[in-house]
Amino acid sequence: MQDTAMLERMAQIKAEATYKQQRENETVLPSPEVLAARLTKLSKELISAKSELKKYSQLVETLTQKLSDTDKTDEANLRSSLHALHDWLKTEIASGPKITEPAAQLLAKDTLLRIMAAHVKVIPSGHEFFVEGNDSILEAALQAGLALNYGCCGGSCGLCKVRVVSGELQKIYHHDYVLSEAEKHKGYALMCSHTAVTDITIEAAEAHSVAEIPLQEIEAKVKKLEWLADNLLILHLQTPRTQTLRFFAGQSATLTLGGEAQSADYFIASCPCDERSLEFHLHTDDLSTQSLFNTLKTGQTINIEGPKGDFVLQEDSTRTALFIAYAHGFAPIKSLIEHAMALDTVPSYHLYWIAPANAVEGEGRGEGEESGHYQSNLCRAWADALDNFQYTPLTASDEETQLKQALTKIVTDSPALNDFEVYLSGPQSFVTVAQTLLHQHNFPESQCHTATLS
Ligand code: FES
Repeated sequence: MQDTAMLERMAQIKAEATYKQQRENETVLPSPEVLAARLTKLSKELISAKSELKKYSQLVETLTQKLSDTDKTDEANLRSSLHALHDWLKTEIASGPKITEPAAQLLAKDTLLRIMAAHVKVIPSGHEFFVEGNDSILEAALQAGLALNYGCCGGSCGLCKVRVVSGELQKIYHHDYVLSEAEKHKGYALMCSHTAVTDITIEAAEAHSVAEIPLQEIEAKVKKLEWLADNLLILHLQTPRTQTLRFFAGQSATLTLGGEAQSADYFIASCPCDERSLEFHLHTDDLSTQSLFNTLKTGQTINIEGPKGDFVLQEDSTRTALFIAYAHGFAPIKSLIEHAMALDTVPSYHLYWIAPANAVEGEGRGEGEESGHYQSNLCRAWADALDNFQYTPLTASDEETQLKQALTKIVTDSPALNDFEVYLSGPQSFVTVAQTLLHQHNFPESQCHTATLS
C-alpha cells in the first residue's frame, strides 16, 4: 500500500478499462447536422432503389405478357418475334428508371419529414398532429391546440394515460406513476413521458367544454414585465414544467398580486398551446392598483387560480370568425386567434380592433398608427403570414355615438353577417352597444360570444 507508483499504475489501468468499456457499451451519436445530412443521403438512395425496383417489376410483368403472346406466333415468324423482344428488352434495361429529378426530390423530402416527425391520429375525435424531434406526445398535442386530458406534465398523476392503438412509442422521461400489468398489456402509456417513434393512433379523452376542465391553483414566476404606458402592463409568467395551467383560449384567471385582498380576474392573452408561458394585459386607471403593478419584479411568484369564464372558440363552427375588440379587450381575442391558428380549422377570420384615439401610447406611436393598438405589429404580422386572416384597426372613443359609427362600419363591411361567428370583447358599455346593433341587424344571438372586462 506504500508503493504509490504501483497504485498510480493500477488507477491508470482502471481508468483506461472503464473508458474502453464505456465506448464499447455506448453508441456515440454524431451531431444533429451530420445525422440530417446522412438521412438526406439515405432518403435519396432509398427513393432511387424504390423507383428501380418499381421499374423492374413493371418490366417483368410486360415481359411475361409479351412471352405469352409469342405462343400465338407461327413457326415462321417466331425467330423474328424473339429478336424484336430481345431488342425491346435491351432498350428498356438501358433506359433506367423513369423518375424525374423534382419528383425524386419531393419523395426524398417526404421520407425525411417522416423521419423527423411522426404523425399522431387521435380517436374517437379524429384530430391529427405531428410530434417533432424529441417532443413528448403531450407537448406536441398542446402545441397543436388540442385539449387532451393531463395534469402534472411530470409523470406522476396518470391523467395523460392513453391507449396506443397502433405504432411505436419511446420513453423519454422517467415517470413515477405506475401502470398496472393489465394496462400495459392493453397498450396504455403516458403521453407526457413518451414520444412517437413511428406514426401512431391513440385513443384519448379530450375536453369539449369549459366544465370539463377543473379549477386549478398554481404558482408561476414573473418572466418579463413590459410597460406600454403608466396604466398598461404586459405581464409574462412562466409556470413550472410539472404544473402548467390547463385552460381554453379566451378564459380568464384570478391573479393574486400582493396578498389575498389584491386579487383580480384578468383574461389570459396567450394560447393554451404555449404550455408554460402565460400572458396577461394588466390595465388600470386606478392609481393604487398602478402602484401595485409597479412593485412587481421578475422572478417574483404569483398565485393563479383558474381557468374561469366561457368565452371560448366555437371549434365545431365552420363559419368565418369575426373578432371585434375594444381597447385592451384585445387580450382574450389574441388568445382565441392564436388558438385558432394552432388548430387550423377556422376557414377565415377578420379582426377589427377599435381603440380610443387618445389611448395609451403603444407600438403604433410615431408610425402614424392609432396609439391604442398596442400590439398592432403582431396583428399585421398575422395578416402578412396568413391568407385567410384580415386585420382592420379602427379608432373610436368610448362615447356611444362613436362606438356605433365604428360598429356600423364593421356590419356594412360584412354584408352576409349571418354567416359569421362573432366574438366581442371590451368593457360592458362597448359590449352592450355592439349587441344592440347586431340585434337590430337580426344577427342570431347564438352566434355572438362576449367577454366583458371588469
Ligand atoms: S400529465 Fe401527469 S402523468 Fe402525465
